[in-house]
Amino acid sequence: MDNEYAVTEFIIVVAVLVLFWSPYDPLLDQVEDFTASSCLTLVCSINQCSITTSEGLGNSKVGFHPIHKRFSGFHASQCGFCTPGMCMSLFGALVNAEKAARPEPSSGYSKLTVIEAEKAIAGNLCRCTGYRPIADACKSFAADVDMEDLGFNSFWKRERGRK
Ligand code: FES
Repeated sequence: MDNEYAVTEFIIVVAVLVLFWSPYDPLLDQVEDFTASSCLTLVCSINQCSITTSEGLGNSKVGFHPIHKRFSGFHASQCGFCTPGMCMSLFGALVNAEKAARPEPSSGYSKLTVIEAEKAIAGNLCRCTGYRPIADACKSFAADVDMEDLGFNSFWKRERGRK
């Protein structure tokens, strides 16, 4: 085989930019919320839909969302390339968990479960391999989180101490 013209191209997708999509369903007369990969979503399919991005959750001008603060506190962002997608995936899971018919969680927690928190970010890739702190930041919102499973994190202890 002539390797002179043989080109092997490896494309590594390191992040999925995720947006929070809220289309109105006129048949059910309700707004449905879910996350979608922005690079795989056709523009025409989001006509008349509410779209929320990570910057829409919070930013340096209006203040950061608790998800952003938790990611920062857990050192869950290294280069930051995957962080917006991770944050929006978690946000979508939190919104949908709150709709579930479950008992109200303790103050500072959500109705999200640890399993749902882990699944929320399952489709997102982090090139920096920072999955442990990312998973910890996500699981820290879960009502059934085991504090010892989060590992040592002074941020978490500071936050918990304020309440
Ligand atoms: S790809 Fe760099 S922090 Fe995830």
